[in-house]
Amino acid sequence: MKEQAKDKKTLIGKINPDVLRFTVGDDPVLDRKLIVWDCLGSAAHATTLAALKVKPAVITKAERDAVIAELIQIIRDAEAGSFEITEADQDVHLAIERRLTERLGDLGRKIHTGRSRNDQVAVDIRLHLREELLGLTGEVAALAEALVKFARRHVAVPMVGRTHLQPAMPSTVGMWASGYAEMLLDDLPAVEAAYVVNDLCPLGSAAGYGVPLPLDRMLTARLLGFARPLHNVFYASCARGKDEAAALAACAQIMVSLSRLAQDLILFSMPEFGYFTLPREMCTGSSIMPQKYNPDVLELIRAKAARVQNCANAVTGILTAMPGGYNRDLQDTKGLYMEGLETTRASLRILALLVAAVTVNRDRLRAGFIPGVFATDRALELVAGGMPFRDAYQQIRSHLEDLEAADPDAAVAAKTSWGDTNGLDFDFYREKIHAVRGWVSERRNGAYRAFSKLLGTKFPLA
Ligand code: ARG
Repeated sequence: MKEQAKDKKTLIGKINPDVLRFTVGDDPVLDRKLIVWDCLGSAAHATTLAALKVKPAVITKAERDAVIAELIQIIRDAEAGSFEITEADQDVHLAIERRLTERLGDLGRKIHTGRSRNDQVAVDIRLHLREELLGLTGEVAALAEALVKFARRHVAVPMVGRTHLQPAMPSTVGMWASGYAEMLLDDLPAVEAAYVVNDLCPLGSAAGYGVPLPLDRMLTARLLGFARPLHNVFYASCARGKDEAAALAACAQIMVSLSRLAQDLILFSMPEFGYFTLPREMCTGSSIMPQKYNPDVLELIRAKAARVQNCANAVTGILTAMPGGYNRDLQDTKGLYMEGLETTRASLRILALLVAAVTVNRDRLRAGFIPGVFATDRALELVAGGMPFRDAYQQIRSHLEDLEAADPDAAVAAKTSWGDTNGLDFDFYREKIHAVRGWVSERRNGAYRAFSKLLGTKFPLA
């Protein structure tokens, strides 16, 4: 039998090395993304401790400044890639406490007064998620803008509108592209809803049952730019995972939009359609077939939509039937949450690049206008002459072979209702996108202003 490996010494006791490895999981890698946020959370906690009205002081104002100076150094080291989270650290929280203790001695050992890793990780994720949701929103706006630009460029280019993928009625490339822009913009209220539930500070909840110290939780929340603290400290620990799930649900909706857009682009750029051409440099070839330019990006978007939905389902699944209070199950939501957001954001960025470079083949689009596409318009002409619609419908349906191709330009020009082919309101899109961008910068500036004040130096450090 293999000799039993020695138990590993950690900041919080000796642990069997296999158990340590299993319980730590991917945290040393995933938590690298939380270093800056954990430092900010610790800066806010140190400031709150220094403001405590107790004697003797837990930490003095000067000690608070020393802690913050070291936290700034940790952020710089993390940016340079030189701050390490080891397996023995377990996670970012204990890694930072170790470093503070190495550099500041007893002061480092005081920093954990009145808090728990549970409220640390909760606040880290909320700060990280705030940043992610703002980035995500900006990227949705950028893709919507690219689609609207594409739509403007081809606003009057006729394109067969399809239902069941069968030719249906005259439409335009402008209608198709701005339609997807609007679908994406309509995914944003769900992102904003996730932002609102995320904009609450859990700090001061400790392990989920508070502490007998008069922590000024309003101050802590303000220092980190949150709307307010989560009120109930028990709920503050139960809320972990819920805001991630709300964000992932929004991501899943965005990915639904993206995968439908991707599917249309794959279909309409097939040689058999030839409506659109994907830029060759954005396609990948085959190792055996020299002629191939494959739409791999778009195929991967379809696959990633499924993955993001799985992330959302998996997080919800982990939370379902989990008892109240902190449970280690929650740690396993972290990777899923990060993957879901990163995948969605990467998908948005690559599609914005691709959409801007797609070219349109007017002749091939025009060739799609078989006579049947005008059948409904013909029926409506009969209606204009006084015939009840159902009779007109029957008349056209029983003489389909007599239908003639008509002028697609005239057909799309005749539809002038707001939002129809000749009634697309590009100011509507411009104003919406402008408002979204304003929403993002207002919130990002507010958060960075709070961080700069907290650290006493400009944030982001750069
Ligand atoms: N790495 C842990 C997590 O992500 C931090 C919290 C650990 N808390 C605990 N009570 N073991 O959940």
